[in-house]
Amino acid sequence: MSLFHRKPKTDAAAPALDDAAMAKTADAVVADAGTATPAPVVMPEAPAAPVAEEAVSTTATTENTPPATASEPTPSSAPATEPAPEPVSPTAVPAAEPAPVVPTPTPPAPAGAQLTIDSTVGEWLDDPVGGAIFRDMLAKAGQDEKVLRVVRRFSLKRLQSMSKGQMSDDIINDMIKRQNAGEMPAGASIPAPATEATETTTPDLPLWEEKITPDRFKGKTVIVTGAGSGIGRATASRVARESGRVIAVDMAEDRLKEFKDSLPDADITTVTGNITKQEDVDKIIETAGAQIHGLANVAGIMDGMLPLGELDDDTWDRVISVNLTGMMRLSRAALPKMLPLGNASIVNITSEAGFRGSAAGAAYTASKHGVIGVTKNTAFMYGPQGLRVNAVAPGGTATNIDGNNGSKLAAERLNPLYEALPDVATPEQLAASITFLLSDDGTNLNGVILPSDGGWSAQ
Ligand SMILES: NC(=O)c1ccc[n+]([C@@H]2O[C@H](COP(=O)([O-])OP(=O)(O)OC[C@H]3O[C@@H](n4cnc5c(N)ncnc54)[C@H](O)[C@@H]3O)[C@@H](O)[C@H]2O)c1
Repeated sequence: MSLFHRKPKTDAAAPALDDAAMAKTADAVVADAGTATPAPVVMPEAPAAPVAEEAVSTTATTENTPPATASEPTPSSAPATEPAPEPVSPTAVPAAEPAPVVPTPTPPAPAGAQLTIDSTVGEWLDDPVGGAIFRDMLAKAGQDEKVLRVVRRFSLKRLQSMSKGQMSDDIINDMIKRQNAGEMPAGASIPAPATEATETTTPDLPLWEEKITPDRFKGKTVIVTGAGSGIGRATASRVARESGRVIAVDMAEDRLKEFKDSLPDADITTVTGNITKQEDVDKIIETAGAQIHGLANVAGIMDGMLPLGELDDDTWDRVISVNLTGMMRLSRAALPKMLPLGNASIVNITSEAGFRGSAAGAAYTASKHGVIGVTKNTAFMYGPQGLRVNAVAPGGTATNIDGNNGSKLAAERLNPLYEALPDVATPEQLAASITFLLSDDGTNLNGVILPSDGGWSAQ
């Protein structure tokens, strides 16, 4: 998935749900390249229902209206004149009347290997029939196979597990059935055999499995913002399943409810609120009670990748307000209930965009650089009082964040860089990094900015 992809269109010509879900799955896999995967689109100001989350957004935003990407041909790049016709040998064409046109039947699909749920995305795409089925589904959702680049090594099973239900068993079974039967999508042609491998392949690595550390957060109250979705939800879930008392904060009430209901035995208190509003910040702190042992500032939004010349004040204000001002206010308000403990931990979420200028737009990049500044300064100031303040910088992660690119210039500049990005991560992988720093296992770590990005920051 190019990291930032076009949001599938949802107009009258929208694809069937299953096709859309498929594309959404892929798209959702990387959003903020700076965050990277495309996921669903939940504009915090208008949260979407959890089901619609991950990929196919039904809520469009003006600043994210996707323009043509750099790789798409534009009118100006089209040849100015029609290409000259191929020269025809006089002996090849009789001067007589042309023969009646007889429709050429589509040749049968070449017999290839029978693909399964354990076949990799790359194997599916490289198979004449499997590739046609995959591309057809993507095309119907306004996507192309570039969105699958960072998951080529993943098995279909792994892609399904990352899709969080968007790629249903029915979709998978239908794909396998059609591929095994050699059933090409209507109108699809059999591609010419590739003359060379399109990509070097490495084995599909074993799936990482989350391992709960029992009682790691027992007796601790931990506030997690953005707990309704993606990385925040995975973090809140991990803390709750390790016996912590979680104060789960999000603007999206329905998502919070769904999260709480998913863990009926856990100690979870939800707070529906906007971290940019002081009254909501006060409500969060009050709900937490007398002691706050941990705070994970995860809530955040993207900026449509807008470069400075295309950046509007509203986008700037909104992104800085949520990503930077909100986390600062909540952390500031939590200090009086953290410092007296002599052992407390704040984990802020920055991004690859906190390290470099080539991962997002100007507002998001500025906000995530700012998060690092607040993290380091607070770590330095309050470290002697037992407060540890660290940050995690995710790479591409499959969540609901809106990673759409709203700028042609940004697409031209950023897309080529995405070619070398590591595979996307799951929110649970990020939660593993965040809870490590939140917990006492993070002892002796203060002011650290921890990339959790599969190695992107090493590039
Ligand atoms: N997904 C990635 O690839 C990626 C990469 C790098 C950094 N990040 C960062 O990770 C963090 C989590 O993002 P995610 O990918 O899980 O996104 P997500 O959209 O899946 O989840 C973010 C949640 O934050 C909530 N939220 C947004 N604004 C809020 C506000 N003002 N008050 C309260 N809640 C609010 C949203 O409703 C949503 O549920 C963000 O800070 C993001 O910048 C993500």
